[in-house]
Amino acid sequence: MYCVRKVTEELYWVGANDRRLALFENIHPIPRGVSYNAYLLRDEKTVLFDTVDWSACRQLIENVEHLLEGRPLDYLVINHMEPDHGASIEEILLRWPDVKIISTEKAFLFMHQFGFHTDSHECITVKEGDTFSFGGHTVTFIAAPMVHWPEAMVTFDTTNGVLFAADAFGSFGALDGRLFNDEVNFDRDWIDDARRYYTNIVGKYGPHVQKLLGKAAGILDQIRFICPLHGPVWRSDMGYLIDKYDHWSRYEPEEKGVLIAYASMYGNTEAAAGALAARLAEKGVTNIAMYDVSNTHVSYLISESFRLSHIVLASVTYNLGIYPVMHNFLMDMKALNLQNRTFAIIENGSWACKSGDLMQKFIDEQLKNMTVLNERLSLASSLKADKAAELDALADAIVESLNK
Ligand code: FEO
Repeated sequence: MYCVRKVTEELYWVGANDRRLALFENIHPIPRGVSYNAYLLRDEKTVLFDTVDWSACRQLIENVEHLLEGRPLDYLVINHMEPDHGASIEEILLRWPDVKIISTEKAFLFMHQFGFHTDSHECITVKEGDTFSFGGHTVTFIAAPMVHWPEAMVTFDTTNGVLFAADAFGSFGALDGRLFNDEVNFDRDWIDDARRYYTNIVGKYGPHVQKLLGKAAGILDQIRFICPLHGPVWRSDMGYLIDKYDHWSRYEPEEKGVLIAYASMYGNTEAAAGALAARLAEKGVTNIAMYDVSNTHVSYLISESFRLSHIVLASVTYNLGIYPVMHNFLMDMKALNLQNRTFAIIENGSWACKSGDLMQKFIDEQLKNMTVLNERLSLASSLKADKAAELDALADAIVESLNK
């Protein structure tokens, strides 16, 4: 059975939801599922913008067939070739053998690499600034390399102000019938998944996102709809999301606040982290988020690192090194290019306590534009009363830094 939503005159959402997939890209948990968005334009020509993951292909085909009402599919525009959107291209080509494909040179290369048989189809290669008319609607193509793969582009329909945004402005989370941002409470129900999606999938490519935002700024007054490849379609309050993207892609925190991430084997480092959190709250800091790195998937830690201005790392020493999951968190911060944060360190070790120096060295040498507070809490196995002054000094240093 088809399941479509009308976006605007002649344009329909024809995507699908996936609530069965446990791990997006086989790495990031998606307990709320994910949507694969595709869009069909019924102009003088019929145009499908992107496809869906292979798991959702059947739904896409039913949706497209329903809306075509027996008409041929004339064009397939591929903004992004990653298989969560491109996997169904081959099926579209088989069902509509006369369809013409419009995409970038690199996307055609990727189609070849993935084994899609495009040779018998007319392939129209487009680049930045090219325009194309489907009858009443004229679109212009805007290069968006590394948002999030090198072949990516976005397409702007100058007739109705629809921006087909590829991976930009997307979110984890399956749609529950509600398609538009003003049909949901985005700030309550979606922003955490939108941030986790952006920071973990596109976070590394902030400068490229900044470039795209710069291009979007030039047509901002013309954009009426933002149609991403995942999550809700935006038709109001776009400044809200653009502001989030601006912060994330400049690696500037959204909020002043403290992320406390602790690695604890027997609860002693956890207790110290908890004591620090209580001191901070007593001193008036209420924007605190506390996580056990051992049972929190690193994608959530990364998302919170992008949200908050200050990060406390509390880690035991393990095999004379940083506790492995904490080390993994640091490695992910590096991989995703996190910058401009202030760190505080709690270290623990029953003998040869090394984790503090090693975390500091990693932050200083492997991460960019970070500050590590001088105050540090060092534990020998557990937090004792004689460390109260050190604990207070660390809390005071964090508060002072937050108030700067
Ligand atoms: Fe949703 Fe980069 O693909």
